[in-house]
Amino acid sequence: MSYNLLKGKRGIIFGALDENSIAWKTAERIHEEGGTFVLTNAPIAMRMGKIKDLAEKTGSEIIPADATKVEDLEALVDGAMEKLGGKLDFVLHSIGMSVNVRKGNHYTDMNYDYTTKGWDVSAVSFHKTMQSLYKKDAMNEWGSIVALTYMAAQRVFPDYNDMADNKAYLESIARSFGYFFGKDKKVRVNTISQSPTPTTAGQGVKGFDGFIAYADKMSPLGNATALDCANYTVSLFSDLTKRVTLQNLFHDGGFSNMGVSQAVMETFMDE
Ligand code: NAI
Repeated sequence: MSYNLLKGKRGIIFGALDENSIAWKTAERIHEEGGTFVLTNAPIAMRMGKIKDLAEKTGSEIIPADATKVEDLEALVDGAMEKLGGKLDFVLHSIGMSVNVRKGNHYTDMNYDYTTKGWDVSAVSFHKTMQSLYKKDAMNEWGSIVALTYMAAQRVFPDYNDMADNKAYLESIARSFGYFFGKDKKVRVNTISQSPTPTTAGQGVKGFDGFIAYADKMSPLGNATALDCANYTVSLFSDLTKRVTLQNLFHDGGFSNMGVSQAVMETFMDE
């Protein structure tokens, strides 16, 4: 269902790799709600992914950018304003990657070059993106910036590895930069802390199947899907949430406030 919530709004969407990506579903929903945008991803992901299909479907242009490279991001911001015909109203950062996770390195046996690469891609890229937008004065007043995160930033999930630290860093950047973006430009910055979701990045986490099933059993409303996340992001990009900022917003069917659920208890009881 469409409500035209984003009519006339322009933005940039990072991180749509394939139709499972949270950013992919978000692009589809923003399109349905009347928003226009530029799609971006790392040049390498562009070759592997299907982003062209999404661009066609949503009438968008693609500008490749490695989110760890400031010069790429600056060209992206300039290019997006030019192609869309003005300043931006929304930006979605939907990027995450840990080389230690990819290589199967245990948290107690990290390769620190990989660790550095991981926080650059997953967290500092958000600062670099916001700094490029801020310096170029590229956001309209009452614009909205969202990054996606996971609750391993606050609680221990052993197999989430160094992504837990990357997400804590990301959430902190959202608050710290959000202060300046709010005060100086009237732009809001929030993170959405999403349920485990079956995507390329999600399934890279060891034991993902157990992880997602457990979260589903613990949550009174069940896990939030990628489409649910897309809808929540649409609300944060709309004018209905103008003074929500500096928040880490749990979007997880209630998981984050649970101790234990009946469904989980039953797996430990004799009958
Ligand atoms: P995905 O694998 O579809 O998306 C991750 C994206 O990051 C890919 O499009 C990839 O190309 C992009 N990326 C990696 N390195 C990049 C770079 N240097 N420059 C630009 N882009 C780069 O997976 P998903 O799940 O849609 O991930 C989106 C976000 O949601 C990530 O921040 C992830 O940590 C977060 N998230 C995912 C959850 C899950 O269970 N899938 C749960 C909570 C948060």
